[in-house]
Amino acid sequence: MRRLRGRLIQPFVKEHHLRKTDLVMPLFIDEIAERPTPIPTMPGQFRYPLEGIGPVVRQFQERGIGAVLLFGIPIRKDPEGTEAYNPRGVIQLAVQRVKSEAPGVLVITDVCACEYTSHGHCGIIGEGPSGMDLQNDPSLELIAKIAVSHARAGADLVAPSCMLDGMVAAIRTALDDEGFQETGIMSYSTKFASGLYGPFREAADSGCGFGDRSTYQIHPANSREALRESEIDAREGADILMVKPGGFYLDIVSSVRAFGLPVAVYQVSGEYAMIRAAAMNGWIDEKTVVMESLICAKRAGADLIITYYAADAAGWLDEEQ
Ligand code: PBG
Ligand code: ZN
Repeated sequence: MRRLRGRLIQPFVKEHHLRKTDLVMPLFIDEIAERPTPIPTMPGQFRYPLEGIGPVVRQFQERGIGAVLLFGIPIRKDPEGTEAYNPRGVIQLAVQRVKSEAPGVLVITDVCACEYTSHGHCGIIGEGPSGMDLQNDPSLELIAKIAVSHARAGADLVAPSCMLDGMVAAIRTALDDEGFQETGIMSYSTKFASGLYGPFREAADSGCGFGDRSTYQIHPANSREALRESEIDAREGADILMVKPGGFYLDIVSSVRAFGLPVAVYQVSGEYAMIRAAAMNGWIDEKTVVMESLICAKRAGADLIITYYAADAAGWLDEEQ
C-alpha cells in the first residue's frame, strides 16, 4: 500500500477534492449594529451592519468566496414574525445591496421565522395535542411569504430551515405564482434537533422562549426518518437537499445522495465553536482539523459545504497549490 503514498504520486491518487466552489459562507446581518460586532460564542465571526454589507461581501469574494448564506437579525420581533417578510426588512435590504454591489456572488437566504418571532419558534405557535407548539399549516403561509419576499429582493436561492411538513411545496407554488420560476430552493431537508446550534442561537438571537425544536426537527437516533425527510423534499421540488449538522451525520449524507439532487452539508455553529475553541487553546492544529473535516464531508458525498470556515479554507486551498 505504501507505494501509492510516496510524496510524488500521492496527489495523483487522491480520491476526493475540495474546491472553492464547494464552499458557502454564512453571514449575519444585524439591523441595529453600527460596526461589525464579534459573536462571543463564535470567536472570529461577526454580526455585520446593513451599512457596508456590499463591500464586506466583496471582500469575501476577493478571498475566494463565491456563495453566501444570509441571516437577518431584525430590530423588531412579534409573535407572528411579520418583520421577516417586510420588503424593507434587514434581510431584504441586505440581499438588494449584495446583489447590486457584489453581483458575481451567489446569494442564498435562510428562510425561517425564529429570528423574527418574539417566542423564538420557527413559525406560528398555538395550542396543540401536546401543549403549545409550532402550528404546521398556518406557518406554511408565513414561510411562503418570507420566501417570496427574499426572491423579490433578488435572492438566487431560498433555503427554508423550519422543518415544517410541506414547506418546499408551499414555497415552490408561491414562487411560481409570483413569477419567480427561476428562484431555486435549497431545502434544509434533513435537519436534526441538535445541541450544536447553541452558538448560532446566541449569534442570531433565535433561542426559544419556551420548549425546544424537538417537535419539528429530527431526533439524532433516526436515520430512516432522516432519509424520508429528504426524499419528500426532493419530490416536492427542492433543487438542492441539505444535511445538518455535518460531521456527526456523514452517514446520512452518503445516503441522501441517492435522491439524485446536489447535497449540501452544513458544518454548524457548534462544530465551528468546538474546533475553534480547541485551536485557540493550542490543543489541535486548526488548519489541519478544518481541512480534514471538509474533505471528510466531500468523501461522504457532499457537493456544497456551508461552513463558517469557508473564507479560511479558500485561503488554505490557495496555499496548497
Ligand atoms: C434557523 C436556523 C438555525 C440554524 C440555521 N438556520 C437554528 C436552529 O434551527 O435552531 C443553525 C445554524 C448553525 O448552528 O450554524 N432555523
Ligand atoms: Zn428557525
